[in-house]
Amino acid sequence: MSSPPERPGTRHLVLRVAATSDLTPTVRRFVLRDPAGRPLPGYEPGAHVVVTTPAGHLRGYSLVDPGGPAPREYVVCVRRDDRGRGGSRSMHDDVTVGTDLVVTAPANTFALRPAARYLFVAGGIGITPVRAMVRWLRARPGADVRLVYLTRSPAETPFRDELGGPGDTVHHSAGGGRLDLWPYLAEPADDLRLYCCGPPALLRAVRAATAHWRPSRVHTERFAGGTEGASVPFTAVWAPDGRRVQVPADVSLLTALRRDGVRVDASCEAGVCGTCRLTLLDGVADHRDAVLTGPERVGHVMACVSRARTSEIVVGPPRAA
Ligand code: FES
Repeated sequence: MSSPPERPGTRHLVLRVAATSDLTPTVRRFVLRDPAGRPLPGYEPGAHVVVTTPAGHLRGYSLVDPGGPAPREYVVCVRRDDRGRGGSRSMHDDVTVGTDLVVTAPANTFALRPAARYLFVAGGIGITPVRAMVRWLRARPGADVRLVYLTRSPAETPFRDELGGPGDTVHHSAGGGRLDLWPYLAEPADDLRLYCCGPPALLRAVRAATAHWRPSRVHTERFAGGTEGASVPFTAVWAPDGRRVQVPADVSLLTALRRDGVRVDASCEAGVCGTCRLTLLDGVADHRDAVLTGPERVGHVMACVSRARTSEIVVGPPRAA
């Protein structure tokens, strides 16, 4: 079995699929364990792993269980997307009980921060990290947790049997139309944190409706491997030779640089593997990856998915590890 490109500091495991089950017609659950039964590297709610599919795609999947210091298994859920680039199809079509998969140790770019109260907004398969967080919090006495969970229909609602109790709103767009989020988001508070995971349209709606919140209280994560709409053009200056590369709204920084003759290595092209990391020398990045930690975001940008918040950014090759 070939391993994905190695990123400095990334630890890879070979895990065996111990069980699978279908949560909905398109969402399959995979239970991954060490073949020798050893405990796995620990993680906290919100963490994800990057799986190399049998067809060779790198895909980031949130761990749906709360985790702990030495879990016996990792559980991920994969929504089949027949219009995607093949990663989810490979997971659904090529993986069965007994399949060995190369998986990175967990990383967490969507970690729970301390708060007295929590509000979660999840759209579709965006429930996966949120489910881990909600379960972890609700296992603690006195947790004040509200969940707004948006799906297309009851049949397309993973974990519908365990979510939807007191404090939860489960809304289906088929029949119910679009849910007005304003009643949930109108009143920010210093003891309240909002976590939102879902498709780009949901994230945009939540960001717009929380413009009056303190930014530090709003935590969002889009699907790993998705694409964000409503991007704006910007200029990337390639520091080694000063060339100015225009990045149109519908073209990634990676593609624009490559078209201009800049060599940038890439693998997943979905913001989950870390291969396309560049040094950010000036300007402000719009980070859309699931790789960089908060401190790493200061001086780096992932070219395959991330963009710029300033009209111009200056980037260069990755620094040697
Ligand atoms: S190519 Fe994998 S993060 Fe960019």
